Amino acid sequence: MRARLRRESSIAFVPTMGGLHEGHVSLVRLAQQKAQCGVVSIFVNRLQFAPTDDFDRYPRMLAVDCELLQQQGVDVVFAPDENTLYPVRQEFMVKPPPLAETLEGEFRPGFLQGVATVVLKLFNIVQPQIAVFGKKDYQQFHMVREMVRQFNSPEEIVVGETVRAPDNLALSSRNRYLTSEERAEAPRLYQALARVKRGIEDGNTRFGDLEENAKEALCHRGWRVDYIAVRHRDTLAPACEGDRNLVVLGAARLGNTRLIDNVEACARGFTRKR
Ligand code: PAJ
Repeated sequence: MRARLRRESSIAFVPTMGGLHEGHVSLVRLAQQKAQCGVVSIFVNRLQFAPTDDFDRYPRMLAVDCELLQQQGVDVVFAPDENTLYPVRQEFMVKPPPLAETLEGEFRPGFLQGVATVVLKLFNIVQPQIAVFGKKDYQQFHMVREMVRQFNSPEEIVVGETVRAPDNLALSSRNRYLTSEERAEAPRLYQALARVKRGIEDGNTRFGDLEENAKEALCHRGWRVDYIAVRHRDTLAPACEGDRNLVVLGAARLGNTRLIDNVEACARGFTRKR
């Protein structure tokens, strides 16, 4: 990969696990605007899956993915097998900060350590000037940005907006798991988060109540909710009254499928208790 990329003057990189959809494609387009050579990796990273996670059934469709990327004019696809990326057992790991034990990390132990470790490896292989991540995985993007900052890694991290279906369901490789009834129900996660956002933007600062109401609404409809959390956008610390730039994050299970989503919200500059 290094030998192939040596002749490129600027590289923008999009790491993925494949099962590509329009959300990935939007990141690819962003990458192509930012550098002369676009590189996409496709690798289902065992290290970031907990034993109970969906590693075995995660969609693997390399030929279809490559065709899509070729249509997009992607220059290089890096799709290593496990032995190429992990020729020996990966014993050195990036240890993420305590924040990685919250939100996704609370329900997917080791997830963010696995992500940070593979992203560091991929960055070292591809050596891009720019790397593009999606807001859809807000905590992941946040962790990668902090990792790069704190390790003085040279990549510029660029973030792409979440691409949604017309009914606002965030596109995800995991949406393929949904039955047609579940697919019809799935936009309710976004709707629940959007309701919290509206509450915040109407001036409600009782974030705990807003979170609870959203959780209850989903549980009522048969979802198993992992978390609904109002956080500060830059630190992902729990929101405090007076914080302006917030993000409402949610993860919930519908049948056997776990969905995550988030929406940004701007709290009012003044406080008004309801
Ligand atoms: P994956 O889930 O394939 O996602 C690859 C990139 O696409 C991530 O940056 C993700 O945030 C972004 N993405 C996913 N759905 C999106 C959507 N609807 N709109 C915009 N962007 C979207 O995230 C991973 O893979 C892995 O953890 C990885 C970073 C590759 C490390 O293994």
